[in-house]
Amino acid sequence: MEPTTLLQVNDIVAAYGQSTILWGVNLEVQPGTVTTVMGRNGVGKTTLLKTIMGLLKARQGQVLLKGRPITSQAPYKIARAGIGYVPQGREIIPKLTVQENLLLGLEATPDHKPRMTEEEIYTLFPILKEFRRRAGGNLSGGQQQQLAIARTLISGPALLLLDEPTEGLQPSIAIEIGDILRRLVTTKGMAVLLVEQKIDFARHVTDYFYFMERGRMIKEGSAATFDFQELQEHIAV
Ligand SMILES: Nc1ncnc2c1ncn2[C@@H]1O[C@H](COP(=O)(O)OP(=O)(O)O)[C@@H](O)[C@H]1O
Ligand SMILES: [Mg+2]
Repeated sequence: MEPTTLLQVNDIVAAYGQSTILWGVNLEVQPGTVTTVMGRNGVGKTTLLKTIMGLLKARQGQVLLKGRPITSQAPYKIARAGIGYVPQGREIIPKLTVQENLLLGLEATPDHKPRMTEEEIYTLFPILKEFRRRAGGNLSGGQQQQLAIARTLISGPALLLLDEPTEGLQPSIAIEIGDILRRLVTTKGMAVLLVEQKIDFARHVTDYFYFMERGRMIKEGSAATFDFQELQEHIAV
């Protein structure tokens, strides 16, 4: 049997008031893969993730998770259906400890019980175990990003949406984040939908690419066949 598509975005149109941002976006995420959406600032990448998550209502089109429609449902319902969202700018709570921040992720589960244990999470993110009693605000940018991802994992999502997780991080720290994403996919069977602007980082972790311009997908392809030279030229403009 063909494995079912995990996430299907069909012809999504989304707008803020009168200003349409997404003009019929199509995208698929297969289980156990990292899929990346690339594109310059302002093309609508964050808007796409917000629309998938139900934070912005779609004007047209459909979002399906494992074949079931979740279009424009309440964000908490979408979280419980199996999508975890790590917003751009990693919104952790600076005054709470690392462990307290982590446990906030339980809010996304119907019964407030973890789907991935703290120990499993600390195995993926050893630095968070070491710093579990420190205030989140005292972590470095890379460690805060790890905490933001870990907090989402505690509810055991099938799909993780990540909005520019390496923004403002040094390349070596970005690579660490990339290694963690690969491990999630290979050892936990999760899927990741990543929004990125850094081609080198994205190539290192991605199975399938989409390239977005002004609210539309204009190119897609597997990491093996994608024309990165052309993408580089597009992004660099
Ligand atoms: N809350 C908002 N209200 C009105 N316009 C917005 C809002 N958020 C983003 N936009 C506009 O939508 C467009 C796409 O933004 P965004 O999705 O954040 O792009 P990206 O993530 O690709 O940089 C931009 O022109 C931006 O100014
Ligand atoms: Mg953005």
